[in-house]
Amino acid sequence: MLRPLIFFAIIVVVLIYYRDSSTTPPARTPPPALRPTPAVPVSESLRTSHRRTVAVGDLHSDLAQALAVLRMAGIVDNDSNWSGGSATLVQTGDIVDRGPDTIALYNLFDKLRTQAKEAGGEVVNVFGNHEVMNLGGDLRYVTEEDYASFGGRQKRREAWDVRSGWLGKQIFGQFNITYVHHGHTVFSHGDMEAEWAQLGVEEMNDLAHEAIWNSNYRAPIFQGTGPIWSRSHALLE
Ligand SMILES: *[C@@H]1O[C@H](CO)[C@@H](O)[C@H](O)[C@H]1NC(C)=O
Ligand SMILES: *[C@@H]1O[C@H](CO)[C@@H](O)[C@H](O)[C@H]1NC(C)=O
Ligand SMILES: *[C@@H]1O[C@H](CO)[C@@H](O)[C@H](O)[C@H]1NC(C)=O
Repeated sequence: MLRPLIFFAIIVVVLIYYRDSSTTPPARTPPPALRPTPAVPVSESLRTSHRRTVAVGDLHSDLAQALAVLRMAGIVDNDSNWSGGSATLVQTGDIVDRGPDTIALYNLFDKLRTQAKEAGGEVVNVFGNHEVMNLGGDLRYVTEEDYASFGGRQKRREAWDVRSGWLGKQIFGQFNITYVHHGHTVFSHGDMEAEWAQLGVEEMNDLAHEAIWNSNYRAPIFQGTGPIWSRSHALLE
């Protein structure tokens, strides 16, 4: 009585074994084109490019919409804290003007910069034409709510001073006119024309900071063909 049972059990085990192995998908071999080719050196920047890069432009003093966009991109959580892990967030300028939330937005970026660093990520801020206009005293697009949030026009002017104002110092220290990501992608607020690109990133960033420090808002880098104003590529048909 025992023998047929054992025999039966063995058959069941064998059947299960074969069933299992036959339902296991065959090991996948990558298509030839995707096989790594060790002969070709893979640069560090390309190997790390699986890290997310999120870029966002003109936020224009609108905190609610800015947070909605950053949440949607998985960059901040519901408490407006960094949730982007090792991602890079590039803000391509024009945080200010046209709305009420100027202070809240610059403070948000300042906080996220620190939180991102702690999480292995990064926040990059690029000058827009509106940052440069405000630093240079061109206040055409500043709203009344914005003035009120600073405590009036005089207080606002003081805050934007690059030598002594809390916001001016922050922007001067944390913003650049252009940024190259992983050595292969250029970010700027406007288009990057060849005559500027050939100077290189460091030269352009130096020129912009030097001009701001010297209150030279008529410097060529801030003119129409420069990186904060140019639309030449966008207008190409
Ligand atoms: C965040 O807020 C959204 C909308 O209010 C909600 O649907 C979502 O569940 C919240 N997420 C967490 C983790 O609380
Ligand atoms: C968000 O950041 C604030 C200030 O750093 C902190 O007090 C708070 O606990 C954070 N919230 C979460 C969910 O981490
Ligand atoms: C601005 O750019 C310069 C040179 O391109 C770089 O050394 C500096 O770290 C940058 N500043 C910030 C805040 O990223």
